Amino acid sequence: MKRDRVTLGGKLSAVLVAAGSAVGLGNIWRFPYIAGENGGGAFLLIYIFCIMLLGFPVLLAEFSIGRHTRKNAVGAYRSLSKRWTFLGYNAVLSPFVILGSYFVVAGWTLEYLVVSLTGGITNYVSSAANEQLFNDFAISPVRPIIYTLIFIVITHIIIVMGVRKGIERSAKFLMPLLLVVLAVLAVRSVTLPGGTEGIKFFFKPDFSKVTAATFLNAMGQSFFSLSIGLGCMITYASYFKRDTNLTATTSNVIILDTFVAILASTVIFPAVFSAGIAPEAGASLVFITLPSIFNTMQLPWLWSSAFFLLLGVAALTSTISLHEVITAYVSEEWHMSRKKAARIITGLLIVLASAASLSVGIGRDYTLFGMTLFDLLDSLTADILLPIGGLCTAIFTGWFMDRRILREQITNGQSRHLFVYRTVAILLKYVCPVLLTVIFLYNLGFFSLLTNIFVSLQH
Ligand code: PHE
Repeated sequence: MKRDRVTLGGKLSAVLVAAGSAVGLGNIWRFPYIAGENGGGAFLLIYIFCIMLLGFPVLLAEFSIGRHTRKNAVGAYRSLSKRWTFLGYNAVLSPFVILGSYFVVAGWTLEYLVVSLTGGITNYVSSAANEQLFNDFAISPVRPIIYTLIFIVITHIIIVMGVRKGIERSAKFLMPLLLVVLAVLAVRSVTLPGGTEGIKFFFKPDFSKVTAATFLNAMGQSFFSLSIGLGCMITYASYFKRDTNLTATTSNVIILDTFVAILASTVIFPAVFSAGIAPEAGASLVFITLPSIFNTMQLPWLWSSAFFLLLGVAALTSTISLHEVITAYVSEEWHMSRKKAARIITGLLIVLASAASLSVGIGRDYTLFGMTLFDLLDSLTADILLPIGGLCTAIFTGWFMDRRILREQITNGQSRHLFVYRTVAILLKYVCPVLLTVIFLYNLGFFSLLTNIFVSLQH
């Protein structure tokens, strides 16, 4: 263990920093559009089910691993078990893949911020015009790349500033601000003409839309949104204090994260229904619907600027956490200064994100498995890499890791939270592996194959 490792300062810091990672584009951009594609209310219920049965135990397990080992993700798994070091590599590789597409969308938020600040947003009144704005921008080759690059550079600077001055300070200030603006927008959106239809769509479950894919999407979204199944929470927890209450931190992060996703949906869906846009519009949903609400308000440019600034900020606290996983690994394991490690990683990310940005526009005809690079990176992480990471983490902590570590970390060496420890141990050992495996197999068509075999045997 390194004695001189930095730790976070104040009491709230652990929650704010972890929530900074968790709350991001995943909540405000990804959650509403995935929910929209999966029938709204029914998706919300399945999502909450995934958060409680999978998200909570895996997040707590990752916090425990991080704070116990006080190392980067690879170092952490290696010190617990040589055999499981591969999980550490998966935990460092996944942030790369995520950042490839995440930086592109983060760049879009910057462009929208600039269009809002300059008042240009007021020219796009109808939803058709907003659709046009989005398409023109995302498809043009140069502009989105420039914004993406600016975003990458900002992330880089904060990473180089370090854990306390950069990461901790930015999260403390920005998270509360985000909540206030979202709440105001939600009130405005719900009161739009026809807005209540959106509320119905989101809160009244329609199970006829539920398929096996809904479960996969909800599971993937819960991992993505909580930043679990990869090295983020392990790395962050390695900076937590010894007396940080991990159970409370986990609950608070989950409540905050889910609250923001629900709040964002109460902003988006009423606006979608009010403007007559299909809730299944996909990745462009937030970018097309929101400007239409702003234009019904007074001082649209101000609201719009506030919103896209905060969306950018929420994205930033997440890109920082993703970059930090790789930086911590490279600098600690390859014995390099933070600065140098960050520079190499940033260089590689620039190449990947630029390619992903091009794949939305002029490069959209180049596909792999029927998907553009952008879509591929996004679905590869959320639907495959993170859940596999989570599955392995559950199996490792449930079956192979020394039980005392989990117990010591969850209870802080006392008798508090023994009940939580026992429940989490069971969830990790049985419930998570079974549930995750079933969802995977279902989506690979395993069960329909079995049914087919069964039916044909009967004949
Ligand atoms: N949780 C972040 C979001 O919701 C994304 C993220 C995923 C960040 C994985 C870190 C790790 O936007």
